Amino acid sequence: MTERTAKLTLDDGQTIDLPVLEGTEHEKAVDVSSLRKSTGYITYDDGFVNTGCCTSTITYIDGENGILRHRGYPIEDLAESCTFTEAAYLLIYGELPTRPEARAFTDRLSEHSDIHEDMKHFFTGYPSGAHPMSIMSAMVTSLSTFHPTVRDEDWTFDETAARLIAKVRTIAAFSYRKASGKPYIYPRADLNYASNFLNMMFSGDGEDYEINPVLVRALTRVLILHADHEQNCSTSAVRLVGSSRANLYASIGAGISALSGPLHGGAAQGVVEMLLKIQADGNDVDKYVAMAKDKDDPFRLMGFGHRVYKNYDPRAKIIKGACDQVFDDLQINDPLLDIAKKLEKVALEDEYFVERSLYPNVDFYSGILYRSMGIPVNMFTVIFAIGRLPGWIAHWRESSQDPEWKIWRPRQIYNGAVARKIVPMDER
Ligand code: CMC
Repeated sequence: MTERTAKLTLDDGQTIDLPVLEGTEHEKAVDVSSLRKSTGYITYDDGFVNTGCCTSTITYIDGENGILRHRGYPIEDLAESCTFTEAAYLLIYGELPTRPEARAFTDRLSEHSDIHEDMKHFFTGYPSGAHPMSIMSAMVTSLSTFHPTVRDEDWTFDETAARLIAKVRTIAAFSYRKASGKPYIYPRADLNYASNFLNMMFSGDGEDYEINPVLVRALTRVLILHADHEQNCSTSAVRLVGSSRANLYASIGAGISALSGPLHGGAAQGVVEMLLKIQADGNDVDKYVAMAKDKDDPFRLMGFGHRVYKNYDPRAKIIKGACDQVFDDLQINDPLLDIAKKLEKVALEDEYFVERSLYPNVDFYSGILYRSMGIPVNMFTVIFAIGRLPGWIAHWRESSQDPEWKIWRPRQIYNGAVARKIVPMDER
């Protein structure tokens, strides 16, 4: 709260002074929480384009300048220097772990990596073509039936958080193994987070699988890059569901469902499907750029544009670099990368995209990177979910610890029929 106020004058003669808030990075907001009580008016902001729903100490984004920091640390530094579990610890607990804290955290993850034998039967109940995001959201919500908790109080929180971070990776790998008709590979305590996931996905296929350190590093980076992004659709969903005091599993299940949409986490899958279409269409990039600009065509360039970034998404820059490095190190040649780069170049020089500040977002290059790891397209959003989980947990915890915690309950402007009488059916 600052000393400053904003004066709102309504045309019915009412005037109200509203407090002005200022964040540590000098973001400013007008606090309208007293508006309705004082004037009878609410604020209207379709899609929450201009609405802050909470204060938070977790993540700072400056979309105009392409800046992203978690707990004060630039995303570039975290992606370069940290493991995924260190970044997860930072998001959830507020500081990077000391060596003993990091050890205790990874031990706790190892302890919780496996899933209950009975839960493994669930995988056989899903139809063979089931999308792994639907499986993941159902399995995560089901975890609360195996580890019942009314509300994760402080003393159970650490266990519940670790259980989720450890188990989503196992659930994801098992859903892939089941869909491919392959036996499950169990988690190993001697492997780090990303290696363990790749091992559960791909080892035991008959040939000698070796975990490639280049891919482990790339996957670690991608997971860190996805770890939090303040009030995106899925994180706000987690906060919203958690605000009713629903437990952590239920809240995360909601986050996974929100993430599955093609405008959110589903975009990486959409990007690769789009690039494959362009390839099948003779690499005609210009045609797809024209379609994206055509207001009569619902097609949009997937992996382009962002509600907050009006500049190059810093995560996209790092993933593009990681792609180049992996392709170089492993001598991979994927024509989709060339199409993506051409598409980016054409779009960034096009007036339509320039005028609207539409740049590649985090999903533009991530799918191409996943392909180089052998991860199938329908698993892309699942990787996003594994990465985003620490952020969801951090936000759930932060909102749970808010002394002024209240249930989230937006209002609306009703635009329907006014009061009327029911006419008997024969007279309608
Ligand atoms: N292709 C073509 N036009 C676009 C695109 C695009 N990808 N994105 C935005 N526009 C246009 C849009 O038509 C509108 O034009 P106009 O002003 O003439 O009506 C203008 O740009 C502003 O778009 P908007 O839809 O009002 O912006 P938004 O902030 O509501 O939507 C978005 C953001 C990410 C949903 C949108 O850019 C989009 O649909 N992108 C493609 C899907 C995608 O890549 N999603 C991943 C987002 S990043 C990962 C995550 O956090 O989930």
